[in-house]
Amino acid sequence: MSEPILQVQDLRLGFATDSGSVPVLHGLSYTLEKGKVLAVVGESGSGKTVHALSLLKLLPPNARIEGGKIIYQGKNLLTMKESSLRHIRGKKIAMIFQDPGSSLNPVLTIGEQLCETLHAHQKISKTASRKRAVELLTQVGITDAEKRLNDYPFQFSGGMCQRVMIAMALALSPDILIADEPTTALDVTIQAQILTLIKNLQKQNGMSVIFITHNLAVAAQIADEVLVLYAGQCMEQAPAAQLFSRPLHPYTQGLLGSLASVRQKTDKLSVIAGNPPRPGDKTEGCPFAARCPKAFEKCYKACPPLYEQAGRSTRCYLQEGK
Ligand SMILES: Nc1ncnc2c1ncn2[C@@H]1O[C@H](COP(=O)(O)OP(=O)(O)OP(=O)(O)O)[C@@H](O)[C@H]1O
Ligand SMILES: [Mg+2]
Repeated sequence: MSEPILQVQDLRLGFATDSGSVPVLHGLSYTLEKGKVLAVVGESGSGKTVHALSLLKLLPPNARIEGGKIIYQGKNLLTMKESSLRHIRGKKIAMIFQDPGSSLNPVLTIGEQLCETLHAHQKISKTASRKRAVELLTQVGITDAEKRLNDYPFQFSGGMCQRVMIAMALALSPDILIADEPTTALDVTIQAQILTLIKNLQKQNGMSVIFITHNLAVAAQIADEVLVLYAGQCMEQAPAAQLFSRPLHPYTQGLLGSLASVRQKTDKLSVIAGNPPRPGDKTEGCPFAARCPKAFEKCYKACPPLYEQAGRSTRCYLQEGK
């Protein structure tokens, strides 16, 4: 039986800019199931990071949450007091940020940073926190962990820094891990190792994961469920196996098509022509219509709703009545 652990309901968010308020998320809704990996996939600028930051209210100062709810343990995180949120951030819901280079402090050793995370939330002795730090580094596959605690981030490779970021996120045994592009900066072999590591730790700890990536091939390796984000809206959500074997939205079909042509190294690279609308662009109809090979008159007039069938949902008029 699936059990929801986090529910995002009609999340609307914009940014105050010099040219007025610019909407970025247009009513995003989804449910994260306990012990599952949900991949949020989308092109650059689709709102993946902004959505993740809003889950923990870590948004830039010019961000405005204009509506919606984020329900965790029966409470709306968006209206929760900052003092209560502090007990949830890191402890219950942890995040691996998109840019690991800027997340580690260059002037502190890896050990100091890990122990600081442990101390901030738990009353444990120096010796106990160092012991736990060694355990955590070992768990993420860093050999000779005891010694490596004394190293500074610059003495670690990109892949090792990413492992440290995972260790820090796991330090307090969170219920939910949000991983924002955790493998993008890494080469393919290391990427595969980190994906396996996250998947194994997720299974061992019974964690739920929101895994953010622009790469469908990466999502295919880790996800139980996939949400395809486009210009701040969910275009399609489905169990991973179904989404990859039978994508319903023309946008998902296009993304998978370009993936297949990269794999087969065909001369004709099938890419989706055109660009997504920019935040603030006025679009009456479906935000994908201008690039969609299957668009018809109706698609340019009003944005389609999400059509739900058999555990999946698709924002496309072609699914109407199916
Ligand atoms: N502080 C800000 N002020 C104004 N606009 C912003 C701000 N932060 C983000 N945006 C805009 O919000 C939109 C979504 O950004 P976001 O960083 O969530 O995209 P993303 O899907 O994570 O992209 P990427 O794959 O490049 O990481 C973008 O158009 C971005 O320019
Ligand atoms: Mg991002």
